[in-house]
Amino acid sequence: MTPVRSDTGPDLADLRRRAAATLRRNWRGKATVPTAALYPHQWSWDSAFIAIGQAHLHPRRAFAELTALLDAQWGDGRVPQIVFNPAVPEDAYFPGPAFWRPLPRRGGPPPGVSTTGLVQPPVHAAAVLTIAERHPGEATDAAVRRLYPELARFHDYLFDRRRVASGLVGIVHPWESGLDNSPAWDGPLDAVDPGPAHGITGLRRDLRHADAGHRPTDADYARYMAVVAAYRDRGYADDDLPSLPFCVVDPLFCAVLAWSEQALAALARRVGADPGRHVERARELTHQVHTRLFDPALGCYVALDVRTGRAVAKRTVAGLAPLLLPGGHRPVLLDTLAGPSFAAPGVRGVPSYDLTAADADLRRYWRGPTWVNTTWLLWRALLAHGETEHAERLAADVVCLVADAGFREYFHPVTGEGLGSDHFSWTAALLLDVLAREPEDQRWQR
Ligand code: SER
Repeated sequence: MTPVRSDTGPDLADLRRRAAATLRRNWRGKATVPTAALYPHQWSWDSAFIAIGQAHLHPRRAFAELTALLDAQWGDGRVPQIVFNPAVPEDAYFPGPAFWRPLPRRGGPPPGVSTTGLVQPPVHAAAVLTIAERHPGEATDAAVRRLYPELARFHDYLFDRRRVASGLVGIVHPWESGLDNSPAWDGPLDAVDPGPAHGITGLRRDLRHADAGHRPTDADYARYMAVVAAYRDRGYADDDLPSLPFCVVDPLFCAVLAWSEQALAALARRVGADPGRHVERARELTHQVHTRLFDPALGCYVALDVRTGRAVAKRTVAGLAPLLLPGGHRPVLLDTLAGPSFAAPGVRGVPSYDLTAADADLRRYWRGPTWVNTTWLLWRALLAHGETEHAERLAADVVCLVADAGFREYFHPVTGEGLGSDHFSWTAALLLDVLAREPEDQRWQR
């Protein structure tokens, strides 16, 4: 569909209408799919971003989205990466429900609920606070009262069970980072025995719905499967995490957790609970991130391979996420964000990987394309630090990318070409959020 454009820039009312239509199209009665064919179930961090946008249209649906996700919370507190829709055939998505079984009975999902055993970046508490601040009222208060204890239990799980490398919080699969095939995971994954890789192409369903050149490779997938199998075969137990084939500290995951923990403190105050432990955990994790994950030579934060104890020297968008936090190396990060790695002339949004790196691949998933969710996180961080002009540039980029290429999953950061799937929910949701914040003026002109 060609966007209606005037010589003053994109038609914002039309973009809003189309964003709302995208979210309506992907709503499945209790929750929203990221996009119908490629991702036909409910994804954890997608739902948090979707709720932020949905709140501008249909606040009740925003809270329903998060309620549906948290209804699948495991007994041990983890909020699963994917909640499988039982109405969707097993072979519509790979790896489907059967691959993840058996799920633990004790500490696992509620009876009859089918999920994966992984988590995703815990952006949910920050999402709930965002919604609560923008849409005050009784319904919001009631929803916050309901959701707060479940969100707190999720964070308790992460801080108690996923603590690694004395004080940082670890992840055990690239899918838990949300940035599946980030170049940061190449090194740690090299050490994983992929097992017999034959047949993986036949099993993959993603390649039926997206260009193979935009997706992770078969070699990536063979290792993803091996890493899941190792965790599944120990019953998704979190003892001795470094003995798993993949165990890393990711700067985006930790930064989002510390940011969301601050949000939990604010939510606790709203419901009359004690914010003390949230304030303390946010402060401590923020300190750990700033003191242990910063790489001055790269000008950003980096991941840590817990199994080897080595830092992963790759400049990815995840390494800019600590901009969400107070303190730290903000001036350096702002320079990196504005420098040639992420912001050469003509570049739109924040690319997922250093544009100057030899292994950047500007069409392939998290190895270079611009994504709206990570750009949105940095937009929020810039606004919070009073970097208004820079924030407005990112907002304008998001609007122009979508106006030109549609509600795509990700975009070529230089040409603006739409990549991956179409009708992508978080692109629509976060565009609505950006448009709700920015006045309709000349900023969208090019
Ligand atoms: N992003 C993964 C996929 O592509 C799963 O979270 O299927």
